[in-house]
Amino acid sequence: MAESLAISKTADRRKIYDEIAPQIAALVEGETDLVANLANITAALKEAFGFFWIGFYIKKENQLVLSAFQGTIACTRIDFDKGVCGHCYTTKEIVIVPDVDNFPAHIACSSASKSEIVLPVFDKDGNVLMVLDVDSDRLNDFSDADARGLQKIVAIIEKLI
Ligand code: SME
Repeated sequence: MAESLAISKTADRRKIYDEIAPQIAALVEGETDLVANLANITAALKEAFGFFWIGFYIKKENQLVLSAFQGTIACTRIDFDKGVCGHCYTTKEIVIVPDVDNFPAHIACSSASKSEIVLPVFDKDGNVLMVLDVDSDRLNDFSDADARGLQKIVAIIEKLI
């Protein structure tokens, strides 16, 4: 396993996603523990982009439960009909929220979070097993480039589950 990540000093997130995806694939290769892999993935994304909060909520019974993350302390359980994460879970679609104050169902784990993107992670049966939640302390910080880039990371995780 590599001891460090090679990341260009650039503001072009698309370039960084292209660089980081194969390194994340290599990072999880050969490790079978899911939470260990999710933990390293959040660390890699934090290092690459410096996002305010990055983490996974995994479906357990009838809720989404906090798993590996990087950032400030966060709410531990989210109902399927609550929050951006719950919306992602029920719609099974990537959700981009440019301004969390304009998303009525948003759950504020931190007042510093201003915009958010959440992606579904599917198991082999096509069910949402978890969601990847990324928060920014800047408004309107996520675009289709982030959706496409993070989807590459999600595809790596889907091969593990
Ligand atoms: N804002 C999320 C809750 C999780 S925190 O952002 C870490 C939501 O509305 O689902």
